Amino acid sequence: MSAIRVEDLRKRYGDDEALRGISFEIEEGEVFGLLGPNGAGKTTTVEILEGYRKRDGGNVEVLGFDPQRAQREFRERIGVVLQSAEPWPNLTPHETLSLFAGYYPRPRDVGEVLDLVGLADKRNVRVKTLSGGQKRRLDLGVALVGDPQLVFLDEPTTGFDPAARRAAWGMIRSLRSLGKTVLLTTHYLDEAQQLADRVAVLREGQIVIMGAPSALTGGSLDAEIRFRRNGEQVVLRTDEPTRVLHELTAEALAAGEELEGLEVRRPTLEDVYLSLVQEEEP
Ligand SMILES: Nc1ncnc2c1ncn2[C@@H]1O[C@H](COP(=O)(O)OP(=O)(O)O)[C@@H](O)[C@H]1O
Ligand SMILES: [Mg+2]
Repeated sequence: MSAIRVEDLRKRYGDDEALRGISFEIEEGEVFGLLGPNGAGKTTTVEILEGYRKRDGGNVEVLGFDPQRAQREFRERIGVVLQSAEPWPNLTPHETLSLFAGYYPRPRDVGEVLDLVGLADKRNVRVKTLSGGQKRRLDLGVALVGDPQLVFLDEPTTGFDPAARRAAWGMIRSLRSLGKTVLLTTHYLDEAQQLADRVAVLREGQIVIMGAPSALTGGSLDAEIRFRRNGEQVVLRTDEPTRVLHELTAEALAAGEELEGLEVRRPTLEDVYLSLVQEEEP
C-alpha cells in the first residue's frame, strides 16, 4: 500500500517555477529521503503534502486523502516537524508535549516521548533554556506525541553538531522500527544514505534520480587518472585503471619522462551527488 502518491506535481511562485512536475510514491513503513541543495523545492513539496500549501497542478494522495482538503482525520494521522519552528519559550518540554497530546485522540505517553527524543532530564526546564539541538528534538517530540502513522521531517538535523546528528539518526531509525512511514528532507548526502530506504534527488524542481541510496552510484563510478602533460591537466576516466596506468607509466618510463602530479582516484558518492545537483559547467 502506498502512503504517499505524487503525480506530476507542479508549483510556481510568481514567475518562479519551484516544482516542475515531480512524481514519486512512498510505501507504508518506508523511510524516503528527499535530497537536494537549498532552493531545490524540498520544503515546497513537503508542505504541499502536509496540506500547508496549495499545488498548481498534478495529483497528490497522502494516506488516501487529498491534503489540500485536509480534514481533521488526516491531521490526526500525520506528524510534522517544520523546517523552522519556535516552541513556546516559557513552557517546559513536558508541558509542551502534554499540550499537543491534547489535540490527538490516541496520543503516546508524554514520558515515553521525552525518553524517545532524549529530553527526559530536561522535562521540567523552560524551553528557552534549551540548546538549538534540544529544541529541534522537542519539535520531533511534538511530531510524535500524537502517535502518527506518517511523519514529515524537514531537514531535521540542520544546524546540529555531529553528536546531536547521530542522536537524531538514532531517533529516526526508531521511527522506522515503530513501523512509521517517514518522509525526510536533507541536503546531507550521508544522512540520506544512513537513513533512507529510497531517495529522490531534487534539483531545480525536478527529480534527477530516484532509487535506493546505492542507485546514486549506479552510473559511472569509473576511476580517474590525472596528471599534467606540458603544464596541461589530463584526466582519463576508465573502468580498467590497472591496465591504463600500466600503459601510461610504461610509455613515460620508456621516454624517460615523469608523469607530473600523477593521481588515481575513484569518485566518491559525494562527487556523484554533486555532479547531479550542480549545473553543468559552461
Ligand atoms: N513562499 C514563497 N514565496 C516565493 N518563493 C518561494 C516561497 N517558498 C519557496 N520559494 C522559492 O521556491 C524555490 C524552492 O524553495 P524550497 O521549497 O524552500 O526549497 P528547499 O526546501 O529545497 O530549500 C526556491 O527558489 C525558493 O526561493
Ligand atoms: Mg527547505
